[in-house]
Amino acid sequence: MSPMHWHSRVWCGTLIDCPRIGQVRIRENQTVVVNQFGFIESVEGGPQTEEVLRARYPNSNIQILSPGCFLFPAFCDLHLHAPQFLYQGTGLHLPLMQWLEKYAFKAEERIDADPELARRTYTCLAKRLKEHGTGTVLLFGTIKERSNLILAEVMQSEGIRAFVGKLSMDKSSSKTYVEPSPTASLEAAKNFVETVRSLNTEGPKLVEPVITPRFVPTCSDELLDGLGKLAKDENVRIQSHLAEARDQVNWVERERGKPDIDVFDAHGLLTPRTIQAHCTFLGPACFDRLHDRGTAIAHCPLSNAYFSSQPFKLREALDFGVKVGLGTDIAGGYSIDIMNSMRTSVLVSRMREGQRTESLLVPSGPPVEEGESVSIDWKDSLYLATRGGAVSLGLPENAGRFEVGSPFDAQLIQLFDGSTQEGVGPLDFIDGVPNESAISEEMLEKWWCIGDMRNRIELWVQGRKCYERRQ
Ligand code: GUN
Ligand code: FE
Repeated sequence: MSPMHWHSRVWCGTLIDCPRIGQVRIRENQTVVVNQFGFIESVEGGPQTEEVLRARYPNSNIQILSPGCFLFPAFCDLHLHAPQFLYQGTGLHLPLMQWLEKYAFKAEERIDADPELARRTYTCLAKRLKEHGTGTVLLFGTIKERSNLILAEVMQSEGIRAFVGKLSMDKSSSKTYVEPSPTASLEAAKNFVETVRSLNTEGPKLVEPVITPRFVPTCSDELLDGLGKLAKDENVRIQSHLAEARDQVNWVERERGKPDIDVFDAHGLLTPRTIQAHCTFLGPACFDRLHDRGTAIAHCPLSNAYFSSQPFKLREALDFGVKVGLGTDIAGGYSIDIMNSMRTSVLVSRMREGQRTESLLVPSGPPVEEGESVSIDWKDSLYLATRGGAVSLGLPENAGRFEVGSPFDAQLIQLFDGSTQEGVGPLDFIDGVPNESAISEEMLEKWWCIGDMRNRIELWVQGRKCYERRQ
């Protein structure tokens, strides 16, 4: 039998995705064929019966979605510190630089010293990510190779697409949590890239290494320079923190005599394969530069509210054409749920827009509004949480939406029970469900605002089911 006739799975039902910012695309009665490698082979519209599908795809599993259900792209978390999951939800009363010293470095050091603790923490993290619909994640790990390999192994075996960063830091406020020299740090980074790339996996490989200078304060110029060259030679992605908080920004200015964006740029670390977290202290000229370099931003609004003292200029970054996705920044952000990241991104942007229009009100005259709104809405945020993340990571073309050639990374969401017409989980439809089985934009907005884990039935990554909700 030719491979063309061997299909692993056929889905039939409603597909919802965000092909571009501001657009939510609802397609009913779609037949999606996913091949044995986990990629979408075809998407066809038009009602189908089970008999017809069985006759047409005799060797495939066929899954017909019930009314009230739809497939949505898996979420992408562009910034998460895996070891900090240990103390998620505690200790957010300090400014960034003190918080790192008091909590982050200590937790990371514990993980590095105890492989069993690392495995337990990372296994629990993977479980939480999946129940919240995150299928792709860009991770910060720790300094030691061993724990980062455990992180990569756990993500691979749990079926999550993970980009794993072994931290590079040859300077630290901690005497014990630091690499001994720039050369030792570079050697370790190089080894890690090679080791992860040569990991043998059962099934499709889902993990990749990422070059990860923690941030400018913990990296010497020599280290940053070497990492820039390594990333170029090995064609590896890069991640770091950029212009995040007042104390960090001042620290860099004092120590290096220039802003961190200039430091990264000078060492070849702003590339089309770079994702920089936060960027709250950047303005238009810097967005222009990031756009020019092809560098993406991981927007982490919840963490920003604690550490950043000013909001990220999201709308302006988007208008400059900068690639943007959403991150949770565990544990600087306390929630692992990208739905919370989406909601917070909208809230923050609306407060910014309110401030902007208020500042334009002339006390004695009529209200004047100048310029474009700086807010985003729920639809924009759904794009950022899916396609925006995929574009930022440079995933294969069409990732983060449902098209021919997309990896099948999808969540099966249920809004209501087709037989009783009752809402699922936190959703109530007091007036009943309009139009029988169709999912409207209004219902989707309701899910975005108040939906939760109870609405998530399954999660699929690269055509494989990695999570199913317990009834
Ligand atoms: N900057 C450097 N390290 C960190 C970290 O662990 N969390 C956050 N939010 N910012 C950082
Ligand atoms: Fe962070």
